[in-house]
Amino acid sequence: MNTIEKYKKYVNISMVEKVQPVVIEKANGAIISDIKGKNYIDCFSGIAVINAGHCNEKVIEAAKAQMEKLVHCCSYVYYSQPTADLAEKLAQITPGRLQKTFFGNGGAEAIEGAMRLAKQFTGKTEFIALQASFHGRSYATLSVTGNNARKRRGGPYMVGCTFLPAPYCYRCFFELEYPKCRLRCARALEDIIRFNTYDSVAGFIAEPLLGEGGIITPPDDYFLEIEKILKKHEILLLIDEVQTGFGRTGKIFGIEHYGVEPDIMMMAKAIADGFPLSGFIAREEIADSFKPGDHLSTFGGNPVSCAAAIANIDFMLETNLAAQAFEKGEFLKKELERLAKRHKLIGEIRGKGLMIGIELVRDSQRTPANTEGSKIRDICLELGVLPGLGGVFGNVLRIQPPLVISKGQLEEVVKILDLAFSKI
Ligand SMILES: Cc1ncc(COP(=O)(O)O)c(C=O)c1O
Repeated sequence: MNTIEKYKKYVNISMVEKVQPVVIEKANGAIISDIKGKNYIDCFSGIAVINAGHCNEKVIEAAKAQMEKLVHCCSYVYYSQPTADLAEKLAQITPGRLQKTFFGNGGAEAIEGAMRLAKQFTGKTEFIALQASFHGRSYATLSVTGNNARKRRGGPYMVGCTFLPAPYCYRCFFELEYPKCRLRCARALEDIIRFNTYDSVAGFIAEPLLGEGGIITPPDDYFLEIEKILKKHEILLLIDEVQTGFGRTGKIFGIEHYGVEPDIMMMAKAIADGFPLSGFIAREEIADSFKPGDHLSTFGGNPVSCAAAIANIDFMLETNLAAQAFEKGEFLKKELERLAKRHKLIGEIRGKGLMIGIELVRDSQRTPANTEGSKIRDICLELGVLPGLGGVFGNVLRIQPPLVISKGQLEEVVKILDLAFSKI
C-alpha cells in the first residue's frame, strides 16, 4: 500500500473534505517537495506555522542539541532550563506587562487554559467572543468559536458564551460603512453585555485578524473602542495570537497593530517553527491566581520544543522577520490588486503582513464563490503553488507563506494565481 492508500485505510480523515493530493517528502525554506521530486511554493505554512521557513537550520540545530541532552522531564515536576529561558524571552517580546507563561502543546490547550485563568482571576464565569472567530476544537474553545460549521453535531456547548458581530467590513452585520459607522460593531459590545449576559463576564476573547474566519481584518481603531468598554466593565481582554503571532502580520504580535494591551495572550503555531508547543502569558497578578492543583500539562514546555522556540525567536529578531513580512506583504497586496482589476471573481484583498486573504465572489451581490475557490486551489497545486482556502463561506484564498519567502517566489505565486484565475 502506498501512503495515500494507507491514509484511506488507517488514518481517520473522514472529518476533512479532502487531504490535498500531495505526499510531502521534505521541505526547505518556502519550498515543499513531494515524493516524485515535484517542487511547490508553500503559501500556507502548515496553517501559519512555518514562519521562519521549513527546516530552518538554526531551529533544527538547537532542537538536535537539546534532544541529545534531554527530551522530556515534565517541566512542571522538575526545572528545565530551556523552558525557563523561553519564558523569559516571551516576557521580553510580548507587549505591555505580560510576564508569566504557562506552556501547553497546541492552540486549543492554550486558549482553554487562558479561559480557566480568566475565571480564576476575576471570579466571573462568562465569555464574549466574536462571530466568525475560531479558537480551537476542544469543548471550551468550540464554545467561544463563532461558526456553526465548526460546531455542528457537537453541542450543546458551555453556558455563558455569547457573541459580538465580527468587524467584517466587507460583509458588515449592520450594513454600514467604515468609518461612517463609527465602529458600530465594537460599540455593540455594550448591548451584548447588557442584554446577553448575566453580568458575570470574565473575558472578551478575540483574534487580532480572524484567520479561519477568512483573514477578517478589523479597522485600526477597533480594539481601542473594545478596550474602553471592557475597562468600564472590568472584563479581561484575551488575545488569541495562535495564528497571528511571531511576525506573521508584520509585527511580532498582531495586537501590536492596534495599540492595546492584552491581559492574557495565547500563542501556538509559529512559536517553534513546527515543533509542537503553545502557551498563554499573563501579568504576574493574573498568572498567580492559579492555585496548586488548578492546572498542568504533561508535555507542556517540552525542552526540545522550547529549545527550538528560542532559536526560532532569535532567528526572527536577528533577521527582522516581522518587518520583512510587512514589506513582502505590501508588495504582494499591490500585485494582487493588479490581478483584481482583471479578474471579477476577486471581491476583496485584505490582511496585514503575510497574512493575506483573497475573498472570491460570483457577482455584485457578493455571493460567495466557494466552489470556484476550490478549483483555483486545485489549479494552483497543478502549477506548483499551495495556497490555503477558508473563511466562514469557504471562499477566501489564504496566502500565508513562510515569511522567508523571496520576492522572486512571490512574483511566481502571483503569476500562477493569474493563470489560475484565467482558467476559471
Ligand atoms: C486563532 C486560532 N486559535 C486557536 C487555534 C487552535 O489551534 P490548534 O489547532 O493548535 O489547537 C487555531 C487553529 O487554527 C487558530 O487559528
